[in-house]
Amino acid sequence: MENLKQLPERLLPWFYVNRRELPWRADRDPYHIWLSEIMLQQTRVEAVKGYYSRFLKKLPTVAALSQADDELLTKLWEGLGYYSRVRNLKKAATQIMQEHGGEFPHSYEAIRKLPGIGDYTAGAVCSIAFDQKTPAVDGNVLRVYTRLMDDDTPIDQPAMKKKVASELEKIYPQTAGDFTQALMELGATVCGPNRKPDCQSCPCRDICRGFQKGTAEKLPVKSPKKQRKTEDMTVFILSADGAYALEKRENKGLLAGLWQFPNVPGHMDTAQALDILSQWGLEVRDILRQTDKKHIFTHVQWNMRGLYVQVREPSGAFHWLTEQEIDQQAALPTAFRVFWQARHMDAD
Ligand code: ADE
Repeated sequence: MENLKQLPERLLPWFYVNRRELPWRADRDPYHIWLSEIMLQQTRVEAVKGYYSRFLKKLPTVAALSQADDELLTKLWEGLGYYSRVRNLKKAATQIMQEHGGEFPHSYEAIRKLPGIGDYTAGAVCSIAFDQKTPAVDGNVLRVYTRLMDDDTPIDQPAMKKKVASELEKIYPQTAGDFTQALMELGATVCGPNRKPDCQSCPCRDICRGFQKGTAEKLPVKSPKKQRKTEDMTVFILSADGAYALEKRENKGLLAGLWQFPNVPGHMDTAQALDILSQWGLEVRDILRQTDKKHIFTHVQWNMRGLYVQVREPSGAFHWLTEQEIDQQAALPTAFRVFWQARHMDAD
């Protein structure tokens, strides 16, 4: 482990010179750090920047978040995906108000108990906001560690994150927040995902076993993935007099409580589609076109067939919203919004 011990002295000077300026690095307010870490789970830095600033402008404090309207929250999160994250943010904010007198808790254990906060987020907040020696092991950090140690344990093995956290904890420096971020930063840039590591620019090259043995490129190892199940569906983009039909999804399951275009399982042909529309009490003026899109979630892939249909009257059991309402109010998840954005395009 001699090489691991030298990690802070290699990484920190590099980080101070090379760190990216990111909105959540402007201060160390635990609310800000928490929000950014939740947004950054499964989402790219570039995509998060705008969401982060918009969210804090509307909800500048934990107190404001705890009082926020659910519609506003889903709208602020629209397009980021994994919507349970924002529901948990509000639940946790409420808990902070009720159980911690509105002050963000400082102890790892108390933070870890908040809804939506696991080992990673608790470690990130405690180290970055409070300089506690609590590692935050995400995919970036696992990549750096396995390469540095030439460790080919599959990183999805449940015990692996705990092992890495416990090894890192032993070598954490006083400047714990900077070290957490430096590890993430190296793993996001020089030692980044989906491409060859840029060992020529790496401050850790001479302590990196993966570099020395030529294995870095092959690490980390992952167990073979299970195939996602696929679901076919037909999505109806129904318009009448400049209004569009939307409905709310049920309050449980995937994309719970968000808006969607009416849809049915399976890929309908025109005759079947007309049949369904008449069952919904709609009189068809014109079927404009069809377009197919696919949307990948963690556990399922949707193969979506979109049918653009003009109907005579805004009737049936739907909410009919104007373009402006859809753009400005309804939280329409990306899986459906792509059909909205493509509404003026030519048939494919
Ligand atoms: N990825 C996860 N957390 C991050 C952070 N704080 N800065 C940059 N990238 C990150």
